[in-house]
Amino acid sequence: MEKEELKKEYEEGKLVSFSDNFYEMKILSEESDLFTQITSHIKDTTTEIQKNDNSESYVLDLGGGKGNYGVYATKILKAKKLIVYDVSESLINLGKSLYGDSVEYVQAKFEEVFEKEKSRTFCYIFVKEAIHFSNKDFYYKLLNFCMTNLKGKLCVVGIPRLANWIETPPYPPSALTALNNLTLDVVDCFEIAKKELIAEESEKKVSNINLVYKNINYNTPFDEFSTLLLNRRWSFFTKCSDEELQSHLEKLKEKNSSLVEYNCTQGCFDCEFK
Ligand SMILES: C[S@@+](CC[C@H](N)C(=O)[O-])C[C@H]1O[C@@H](n2cnc3c(N)ncnc32)[C@H](O)[C@@H]1O
Repeated sequence: MEKEELKKEYEEGKLVSFSDNFYEMKILSEESDLFTQITSHIKDTTTEIQKNDNSESYVLDLGGGKGNYGVYATKILKAKKLIVYDVSESLINLGKSLYGDSVEYVQAKFEEVFEKEKSRTFCYIFVKEAIHFSNKDFYYKLLNFCMTNLKGKLCVVGIPRLANWIETPPYPPSALTALNNLTLDVVDCFEIAKKELIAEESEKKVSNINLVYKNINYNTPFDEFSTLLLNRRWSFFTKCSDEELQSHLEKLKEKNSSLVEYNCTQGCFDCEFK
């Protein structure tokens, strides 16, 4: 499918996930605060890995959508190829229209990665805004996989539970509740890694287990924000009824009818595997 057709789907609200649409155009033009902050994070946290010869190892982007972050990582690490796992056909098609055969897209659940990728070695495994679709069982398997198939860095980026946001976002109450009821968030990933990888840390197989928070600033035109909510383009809004969304938007409009300004907190967890 061509980019124009995908853009039309986006405008008609047919693409379903958060990054399918709302931030799409800004991400493509690399102008969003989100893209800038996360790619800087990737760059700053891989300075040592960039010095390695990564020409025979791969980058893996799980739930990577079109794979634009993985593309960035693959380029700065000079890795062999990017492998993207995603269930969304439309995002994969968009990725193919942008990056062609330079990226290997696997339309599959990321739960299948351990079996499918057991014979490849990776220098960077990246999971952005997708870990909350999984659970602890998946994450333990991911850490085990990193022990055997990763020589480089694991990086999980995602929104934490609300207690770790610097300010409460302007989302309806049911969406905030959903945010607090995540089965697994980026802070869990950090804490589990700290606990589970202590032995490997002392053996020096694992190092630099870190978590930092980034605050991403959004100044979203009211109509765009309204479309995001009403089309439930972010999974958390699926918990909201039509009435709740409508009344929430009316309240927001009373405050400022042209712009919705807020900070979104993203956690970035990194861990290095030898
Ligand atoms: C919020 S988007 C993030 C996309 C991309 N990582 C980014 O940051 O631009 C979440 C992505 O996870 C994918 N996804 C959700 N559950 C998945 C699963 N079990 N296996 C593979 N992909 C999944 C969705 O299709 C979607 O592309």
